[in-house]
Amino acid sequence: MKILVIGGGGREHALVWKIAQSPRVRELFCAPGNPGIAGLATLVPIAPDHIEGLLLFAKGKKIDLTVVGPEYPLSLGIVDRFEEAGLRIFGPHCAAAEIETSKVFSKLLMEKYKIPTAEAEVMALDEAYQKVLTMKMPVVLKVEGLAAGKGVVIARNKKEAIEGLDSFRLMGDAACRVILEKYLTGVEASFFVVTDGKVALALSSAQDYKRIYDHDQGPNTGGMGAISPSPCMTKSLESEVMTKIVAPILKGLELEGRPYSGVLYVGLMLTSLGPYVLEFNARWGDPEAQAVLPRLKNDWVDVMEAVLSHRLHKIQLHWKRGKSVCVVLASKGYPGVYKKGEVILGLDKTASPHAMVFHAGVARQGDRWMTDGGRVLGVTALGRDFSEARGRVYQAVDPIFFNGMYFRRDIGAL
Ligand SMILES: Nc1ncnc2c1ncn2[C@@H]1O[C@H](COP(=O)(O)OP(=O)(O)O)[C@@H](O)[C@H]1O
Ligand SMILES: [Mg+2]
Repeated sequence: MKILVIGGGGREHALVWKIAQSPRVRELFCAPGNPGIAGLATLVPIAPDHIEGLLLFAKGKKIDLTVVGPEYPLSLGIVDRFEEAGLRIFGPHCAAAEIETSKVFSKLLMEKYKIPTAEAEVMALDEAYQKVLTMKMPVVLKVEGLAAGKGVVIARNKKEAIEGLDSFRLMGDAACRVILEKYLTGVEASFFVVTDGKVALALSSAQDYKRIYDHDQGPNTGGMGAISPSPCMTKSLESEVMTKIVAPILKGLELEGRPYSGVLYVGLMLTSLGPYVLEFNARWGDPEAQAVLPRLKNDWVDVMEAVLSHRLHKIQLHWKRGKSVCVVLASKGYPGVYKKGEVILGLDKTASPHAMVFHAGVARQGDRWMTDGGRVLGVTALGRDFSEARGRVYQAVDPIFFNGMYFRRDIGAL
């Protein structure tokens, strides 16, 4: 088979790494990919949002299966476009991906199909200014649309609530809709399923580390690390999530004429009243994919094909025993301003049967590896338990160095 993976971050490196292990793959391409992916796939210099360019490439190369990593091309309808052209592609249609791309659609859908989620009110931004003054604090403010992690504000008091609404106003559309929702307390967990819209298989769970500093201090980031499975995810909790959340949301999407296909990410708050949905994402998480995929024993190409041919009920997923820990190495200053172009040393010294290095913001200049983003590398290790995986991951990080390299030291410390 010829497979094309779309995207160029750590998540896509993990996907390419996993897909490359399938004996069924004859040729593997990645658009645009990154220098780490270049060792496993042929890089194609087409941006993930250049749908027509990707389509032409896939047709020209007679690609058998295209796999979409990030949400942006999904929101642009890449899956719809490829299917219209008769090409096989793994991921949800644009109407189904709205479960991620529109927080308002997602919230109303959850309410309609009685899926446990924080009580909320949807209104125009202008109206919200009045409303928040009457609400109990803390309150959670969410703005409509893909906001790259900047669309949620947790306001502890009225002043912060007004400032939060002002920050939404600065993002653009003053007439846009916002969600004012009840603040939930509990432990967060990410839960993944793979589905063809009717059958859904649980793909294990993860816990991500969003804050920049140890012990969850400082601003939110795209993710500074992840562990899998989530230490809070028991078997019974997993089946509760499957019956109370996954089954009804898939049914609801089908009834709304938006059947879902692909990987569905369920962002959960495990509260004293049970699991509540914070959000859905229409794809793997980054860095959660770098922690979950290395634990999966199945051939991922088989699983994706089973989705596309509605044979998912024939598949049983198998997981390696033990746990995984993924640590993100970032550029100093991230998630604020940071420098690019620092030489990365020690990448050739990290080879270990238990550890993998996934590239994200990396560039290649001649024979040198250079930093090229905020999150530069993700290092994952497996172990019998979190303590062993954690020991191995920090051992694998040890030889890697670049100026201003920063990483959290508490990933997987339970
Ligand atoms: N109702 C809520 N109660 C408490 N915390 C919340 C709530 N909704 C969101 N959060 C916090 O905000 C973070 C981001 O919200 P989320 O809905 O996942 O949006 P996004 O990932 O698009 O920024 C969550 O991971 C969680 O920490
Ligand atoms: Mg989230």
